[in-house]
Amino acid sequence: INAAVIAIDGPGGAGKGTISRLVAQDLGWHLLDSGALYRLTALAALRRDIEMTDDVALESVARELDVTFVSEDGHTRIMLEGEDVSADIRNEHVGGCASQVAAITGVRDALLARQREFAKTPGLVADGRDMGTVVFPEAPLKIFLTASAEERARRRHDQLRQAGQHASLSSLLKEIEARDARDMQRTVAPLRPAEDAVTIDTTELSIPDVVARIEALLSLRG
Ligand code: C5P
Repeated sequence: INAAVIAIDGPGGAGKGTISRLVAQDLGWHLLDSGALYRLTALAALRRDIEMTDDVALESVARELDVTFVSEDGHTRIMLEGEDVSADIRNEHVGGCASQVAAITGVRDALLARQREFAKTPGLVADGRDMGTVVFPEAPLKIFLTASAEERARRRHDQLRQAGQHASLSSLLKEIEARDARDMQRTVAPLRPAEDAVTIDTTELSIPDVVARIEALLSLRG
């Protein structure tokens, strides 16, 4: 991998998606939403009535995933087999299934090369759980974004409300904690900061503050 990569990892709801998109836009770099690949694998499996415990079938779903990312004026439409599933992959159920699917070694291996293909000049902002530890271990800048579970539940609550959906704060908090535990305790590529990652706690920071910090770190390292 020759292109510059900024790896942005952290638990769900820490703001990685928004922050990564804004940094990529500012720099004019490519963007990898690696969580979308796990969500797409889960969605494709759900549509085929495949159980989230069927490792062998899930690995082939991941390997054969027919997905395209279509970027238009700062937004990316995610297409599964030619159908726009950008909204479908964001619901809590698909998210929960994605985190089950993501614990399967064969699925992670199947998605590895696909993720590395995103690293192209002038550079890539890669958003996920293991960008700095597994997928792009040579990335010159690695960020670990966190926020308290309560704050992440609140943000998710607001996001859902804006999308016209409703979920109770306490159930969101429970789901977030369950997903954190699953992501951190799994044996393959558990969620943890890379040794050379810079941790940014976003609980009390605004989005522009976080973007500015990352860009300042990039100019120091680059
Ligand atoms: O980030 P997002 O919530 O879209 O990711 C969905 C799920 O995919 C996460 O809960 C996590 O289990 C998994 N994931 C992963 N490795 C990544 C990105 C996401 O295991 N690099």
